[in-house]
Amino acid sequence: MSTTLGSFIAGGVAACGAVTVTHSFETVKIRLQLQGELQTRKDAPKLYRGVLHGVKVIYQNEGMRGLLRGLNCAYIYQMTLNGCRLGFYEPIRTSLNSLILHRDIHHLHDTQSKAHQSLPVNIFSGASSGILGAAAGSPFFLVKTRLQSYSPFLPVGTQHKYRNAWDGLKQIYGAEGVKGLYRGVWPAMVRTGFGSSVQLPTYFLAKRRLVSWFSMQDGPALHLLSSACSGFVVCVFMHPPDTVMSRMYNQTGNLYTGAFDCLWRTVKTEGILAVYKGFFAHLARILPHTILTLSLAEQTNRLMRRFETGVLGVPEKTKTS
Ligand SMILES: *[C@@H]1O[C@H](CO)[C@@H](O)[C@H](O)[C@H]1NC(C)=O
Repeated sequence: MSTTLGSFIAGGVAACGAVTVTHSFETVKIRLQLQGELQTRKDAPKLYRGVLHGVKVIYQNEGMRGLLRGLNCAYIYQMTLNGCRLGFYEPIRTSLNSLILHRDIHHLHDTQSKAHQSLPVNIFSGASSGILGAAAGSPFFLVKTRLQSYSPFLPVGTQHKYRNAWDGLKQIYGAEGVKGLYRGVWPAMVRTGFGSSVQLPTYFLAKRRLVSWFSMQDGPALHLLSSACSGFVVCVFMHPPDTVMSRMYNQTGNLYTGAFDCLWRTVKTEGILAVYKGFFAHLARILPHTILTLSLAEQTNRLMRRFETGVLGVPEKTKTS
């Protein structure tokens, strides 16, 4: 119990720390994704010309406040995602293991399905708990996206005037009900599903390749490089559905009938590369996020463990899982 709560807090603090550092890039990413929506390249406005230019003009016009719009929503989203990952991962994994193992072995002990480790099952469990988290957290991501695209100086997208996150949720619910809150939930689930299922395999693959090709030793440098490689591949897979999601979140009317309509019309009018608008801003967010989450998680996990043994007096042995 205290272990689960401990990892929930540790993981949450790590994710929120990482989000704080990279939130500016997320703001730029969203504005780049929305800029020139359904316009041909020569007609499209170029208010934001790239990652650095974006950060610069937002900072000059709107200050730090402009770059950090929607940050508290990002925290709530991270905690929701993190909670679902922690809460659903083990149950899904153990049930899948017992389903698969039962086929081969009769009279299986419950402990065996808990102890059994299989990479495909682990990846599947990670991805599905991530998808559930994305579904649960979608309203926060929606409000976050709208807060971030709001700009009194260089606006892109529908300008939703929300005073804060809570006000945003209330306004959406008041005007459109639950359906409005869950606008864009499908691309949000696809996006996180892509990201979660690609992350672990590419991490392990990169680690193996770095060891065999460059004879790197196990250690922080190897972990850092492998997580950077993994972050890059995650971004490549995640970005197209992420662009669709941002555009579904932006619309209040019925510009698009659904995610596929959005994808199709985006590619048709803006060219195939349009799905990668804002890619470098996304990369600038994901790379440090992956690295920071991993290294901060190490730190906060250690702190939590010390807190639990030192302050709460939980014996060391119960805290291994
Ligand atoms: C955002 O959504 C509105 C509809 O609410 C739409 O008219 C607009 O084209 C969309 N995109 C941008 C960049 O404004």
